[in-house]
Amino acid sequence: MVKAVVTGNYPDGFNIARGVNAEVIGITEKVFPDGEQYVRLDEPDKIRNSTILVISTMYPMQDQSLLKLLILADALARNQAREFIGVIPYLAYSRQDKVFMPGEPVSASTVLRILKSAGYSRLVVVDFHSNSLLSDFKPYLVNILVSDLLVKAVMDKLDKPVILAPDKGALERARFAAESIGLDYDYLVKSRDRVTGVVSYAPREVSVEGRDVVIVDDIISTGGTIAEASRILLKQGARRIFVAASHGLMIGNALSRIMDAGVQRVILANTLGARLEHPLVEYVDISSRIASVVRELIQA
Ligand code: R5P
Repeated sequence: MVKAVVTGNYPDGFNIARGVNAEVIGITEKVFPDGEQYVRLDEPDKIRNSTILVISTMYPMQDQSLLKLLILADALARNQAREFIGVIPYLAYSRQDKVFMPGEPVSASTVLRILKSAGYSRLVVVDFHSNSLLSDFKPYLVNILVSDLLVKAVMDKLDKPVILAPDKGALERARFAAESIGLDYDYLVKSRDRVTGVVSYAPREVSVEGRDVVIVDDIISTGGTIAEASRILLKQGARRIFVAASHGLMIGNALSRIMDAGVQRVILANTLGARLEHPLVEYVDISSRIASVVRELIQA
């Protein structure tokens, strides 16, 4: 029987453990007065020779979450787990996935390598930002797309819907949702007038005139990307804008920025340990999709 450890920063992880039919092994977590973290497996004798799922997330408090995953790995290895798999719906640092400016690190690759060297045999994540690292870390990194579930949650409110990615890099998740529901999809292309220098954005092919648009993205952080895309689409005649994103970090005034840009509703997956309670924000529980991928993985 598979067993699971669920960290305190991700209570929704218990739904995943239930979906996998895993026995949950409790852990004790605390922070010392100087800020250092402590963790202990409550029943260490149940670890030996077992496959353990470590179900956690990495927002908020990305750095502490990473450290907790590392010290937990040490405890699991010392107690002779057969293997341990990280089930981490939001893997932080994924956006620094290449050297954008000389002298920068590739932080996303650093995080993946650290977790691998700590002993995690596989990592199961949701809507990982970086396509390039997904292929570099294949099959170690198992990525689950959930954009179809997010769009389905608003389908009954939509009129002549079209799904749009805010840029080409986000196209795959827009395509995934659109194809599984049977909708049109496209992405926004940035172009610059060579004479005036003015930058403009437009869908590559599909017209949004008179249609409801669902913008599909992986992360909403400051809300800037979504706000800009929404304004452009409304100017181009879109009827209404909805937003579906996997990881709603919603930093600072992100929600009001998005709403001020004319967005009707924001649909987010429950990948994080924090939620924004607001009548126009809806969370979709993606635990059963994660559980079914994990079940297949451990049976393979
Ligand atoms: C960018 O490549 C990502 O996919 C998101 O679009 C971006 O991280 C969102 O950030 P913000 O909400 O701050 O614009």
